[in-house]
Amino acid sequence: MISKITIDKVFEQLLVEEVIGDFVQLKKSGANFKGLSPFSNEKTPSFVVSPVKQIWKDFSSGKGGNAVAFLMEHEHFTYPEAIKYLARKYNIEIEETQLNPKDKEISSERESLYIVSEYAKKFFKNTLNNSIQGKTIGLTYFKERGFNSDTIEKYDLGFSPNEQSYFSNSAIEKGYDKGFLEKSGLTIFQNSKSIDRFRGRVIFPIHSMSGRILGFGGRILNTEIKTAKYLNSPESLIYNKSKILYGIYFAKQEIAKLDNCYIVEGYTDVIQLHQKGIKNVVSSSGTALTADQITLIRRLTSNITMLFDGDKAGVNATLRGIDLILSAGLNVSICAFPEGEDPDSYSQDRSFEEVKDFLSENSQDFIQFKASILAESSKNDPILKAKTINEIVNSISIIPDRIKQEIYVKHCSRIMDVSEEVLFNSLAQRTKNEIPVISKKRIAKVEKTPKNKKINILFELEKKIIEILLLYGHKEEQFEEVLLNKDDKGNIILEPTIVQTLVYKKIFLDLQQDEIEFTNDSFKILYHKIIHELQENEKLILDVFLNSLDIELSNQVTTILMNEEQYQLHDWLSKDILVKNKDKVVGQLVTETVLRLRTYLINEKVKELQLETKKSNEDNSEILKEINDYHKLKSLLSKKLNRVI
Ligand code: CTP
Ligand code: MN
Repeated sequence: MISKITIDKVFEQLLVEEVIGDFVQLKKSGANFKGLSPFSNEKTPSFVVSPVKQIWKDFSSGKGGNAVAFLMEHEHFTYPEAIKYLARKYNIEIEETQLNPKDKEISSERESLYIVSEYAKKFFKNTLNNSIQGKTIGLTYFKERGFNSDTIEKYDLGFSPNEQSYFSNSAIEKGYDKGFLEKSGLTIFQNSKSIDRFRGRVIFPIHSMSGRILGFGGRILNTEIKTAKYLNSPESLIYNKSKILYGIYFAKQEIAKLDNCYIVEGYTDVIQLHQKGIKNVVSSSGTALTADQITLIRRLTSNITMLFDGDKAGVNATLRGIDLILSAGLNVSICAFPEGEDPDSYSQDRSFEEVKDFLSENSQDFIQFKASILAESSKNDPILKAKTINEIVNSISIIPDRIKQEIYVKHCSRIMDVSEEVLFNSLAQRTKNEIPVISKKRIAKVEKTPKNKKINILFELEKKIIEILLLYGHKEEQFEEVLLNKDDKGNIILEPTIVQTLVYKKIFLDLQQDEIEFTNDSFKILYHKIIHELQENEKLILDVFLNSLDIELSNQVTTILMNEEQYQLHDWLSKDILVKNKDKVVGQLVTETVLRLRTYLINEKVKELQLETKKSNEDNSEILKEINDYHKLKSLLSKKLNRVI
């Protein structure tokens, strides 16, 4: 676990506008920054970053939060990944807690492997672009394959010359530990000789979801040499073949945006398609898809399309992959390329539109695919046909969602010309052993401004109090306390005095005095959390506070805090009554809001009592007296209110 101290340091140093500025072009707009939403395709900016509050809000998608929330949304980082990213950005050393000595060792070993891999990436890249061999052999090779300079740069492609220890010597000279060079597989130590694993190959560095180098793939240039065409890093603490998807770092945003992920077989397929403009592509690098790889994709989309070469050699692996995807609750389509072509070769001499059209026209769902593979020659072979149907039902039985199952049964019935009833029976037999349903990601509720709806006054007032507490709770302000007194003639008069106190204390005491409780559940929780925080620390750092809340509450807080910005964005400022008190001094704002809340509650109480008097025919004098008292109180409050507004 990352220590609290590290997290605190990160929050102390980060500037939300800086963090987001790395991904979104922001323009200053008043006190805020504005930009185009990175979560939707829009033409007018509705993405707002507040440097004062250190939060952001995307009014087109409803998303919002602090800098960490942005990284989790935009980069699809986990929480620790986001903190680590920020720590790196701001040069903060990451301190891990609760690590026993063994774990500590592993953690620092992992870090060392990252460091040596990063060095190797730069070394190979530099060799490709700046050495004579690199340029004449490596660069020429990539150019011949149709990769342009931008692509070569983006994918960090490199070159390792055909010399025994060109890389290793340099690394050792630079002081990199031999143990880590060996563990990363970059160097093979043999009888006091150090040998470059990837010598004589062009290099494809493999990036993690967050862009760190995990390992390498190296392709031989001379196909005559009898050695594996591709060589990969060996398994290590950072390179687990089964948990890696080549290209995910460059594809993740597009996968999420287009809500679909293409899986191809090779490195060059990924790069070629990406260069063509089809960017939601990753590769399982020649191995059968694994459950861990599906988990990675699942963070981005629930739709997968598997593309595979026309040679059909990989059909069995594809079939296993399909079932794995289905059992994870994701949807899967398959697109086969023409005989002798792979996505790389196919797209090389075709336009973006042609490739895109090919993909959409040739993607078929798994039933059609299975039917076509297994039953190609089974039209007149009842035994083979039965086998095919069984295979399809098998796949359907793996799907966790019942409704989806039913849809597929109907579909299969049509395609294979067999009754739904038979299919359902067969399905029922198989699903006796229930498969646990994998729970879907909880989707945070997005609060939208209700259109044309009557504003719920109580809701707005409670919200305003939360807003005041969040923004000014820790501030010391002057308040006008109005004391009641009687003049010589016995009339009640108001005697104002000025008191100085902390905003949150004032609100807390005022509400407590009237025993006012929040009616909205979220506001109630927030109210107590904020008061607690302020009592403990006498301060409330917004983005840190957001961090302590669950997704839903944190989203609500962001919405409340960015209210103002939304009005500014749409120039509604002049149209809305609730915003006008922004320019008031805080003290007045607090007094006014609390008074309004009290008045509102009294009104409600009076209505309630009046209803009671109508219901019964008995003596109502008690109730009437109470109503009268409330009226007096109300008129008092309204006098006070008149003083402040
Ligand atoms: N692969 C591997 N080891 C091999 C062969 C292949 O790891 N000996 C992996 C690589 O990730 C490769 C993928 O399997 O990208 C697909 O292999 P293949 O279709 O043979 O290669 P292509 O990607 O088509 O490579 P190229 O176009 O460069 O020949
Ligand atoms: Mn190929």
